[in-house]
Amino acid sequence: MSEEPVPPHLLPLATRAPGKCILFGEHAVVHGRPELLLAIDAETQLTVRPAKRSTLNGIPLDSARNPYAMRAMEALWSGQSPIAITSTSRLPRASGLGSSAAFVAALGAALGAATGGIDRPRLAAAAFRIEREAQGVGSPGDTSAAVGGGYLSLNGTGGTIAWKLKEGDRRWTVRRHPDPEWVWIVADSGIHHRTGDAVRAVGARLAAPDGAELLDRFERVALSGMKALGAEDRTAVGRLLDENQELLRIVGVSHPRLETLLDAARPEIEGGKLTGAGAGGCVVVLPKPGREMAALRSLTRAGANAFAVRGSRTGAALLGELDPQGN
Ligand code: PMV
Repeated sequence: MSEEPVPPHLLPLATRAPGKCILFGEHAVVHGRPELLLAIDAETQLTVRPAKRSTLNGIPLDSARNPYAMRAMEALWSGQSPIAITSTSRLPRASGLGSSAAFVAALGAALGAATGGIDRPRLAAAAFRIEREAQGVGSPGDTSAAVGGGYLSLNGTGGTIAWKLKEGDRRWTVRRHPDPEWVWIVADSGIHHRTGDAVRAVGARLAAPDGAELLDRFERVALSGMKALGAEDRTAVGRLLDENQELLRIVGVSHPRLETLLDAARPEIEGGKLTGAGAGGCVVVLPKPGREMAALRSLTRAGANAFAVRGSRTGAALLGELDPQGN
C-alpha cells in the first residue's frame, strides 16, 4: 500500500466487517490442524474522517487502551495525517465472535481503501499480523473470516482456494466453501474470557502423552465437518458439532454455563458447541429444520443473549461514500 499522504477527497470512508463463529477446529488450528469458520451477518461498522488528532470514538488513541487500532495505524497509516475513527458493533467483546478481528479488518479496509484500494489477500495478511501482535497468540482464522466473509476453512479440504498466509515456517491455505443458507443460533453466556489464557492452557493440556491423538481427533472431526457441510447433511454436521464439543470439554475449555445452554437447546437442535476460545463466551447451535424459534426461546429462557445468524454476504468492505461535511 502506498505511503503517500492521503488525497483528502478519499476521506471520510465507512467500512464494515463481519464477526465469526468457529464451527470446527478452534484451538487445534493453533497447532496446525484444520478449522472451519462461519463469518456471520453481525458486524462492526467504522467511519474514518480527517481530524486534528487521531481518536477512537472521540478519545485520543493510546497504545495501552487501543492496541488493535494503534498497531493497524503503525502498519497501514504511517506518515499519514491524523484520523478520527468511530466504531459501532453488534458483536459482544471477548465472547468468541471475533470482535477484535472485525475491528481490525474494517479499519484495515478503510485505511487500505484510502491508500490505494482493498486487496483481500494483502488485507488478510495485514489483519492477521496486527491481531497477532496485539494478542500475542493465535491463528489467522478470525481475521480471515472478517476479511473474506461466508464459510471459510484454514488448511481444510473442499471449496476453492481464496488465499495463502505464512508466518515464519507456518503456512495456512484459506478456502472458501459454498454457503448452504442455513440459519444458526448463537447464544452468549455473558461470561468473558481471555483468548490468550485459554490458548496457553490448551497448549499445556496438549503437551500430555495423549495430546497428539487428541489433535488427530480434532482434525478428523473438522475434515468430516467440511465434507458434511459440502453435502448439506445437517444431521451429520450436528453430530460432528457434538463430537467437537466433547473434544473441547476434554481439553478443558468448556464451562458449566455453556453445558447448561447446550442442554437447554438439545431437543431443538441437530448439535452444537462452544465457539472460539471457550471458558465462557458463546455457543453456536444448528437448529432442526423449522425449530429455529424454539431453539432461540430455549436458549433465552436458559439466560443467554441468543440471536439467529446466517453466513455474511461479504467480508470487509466499503459501506459507501460519506458526505465530507459529516452528514
Ligand atoms: O475466542 P476467539 O474469538 O478469540 O477465538 C479463538 C480461537 C482459537 O482457536 C482458540 C485461537 C485462534 O487464534 O485460532
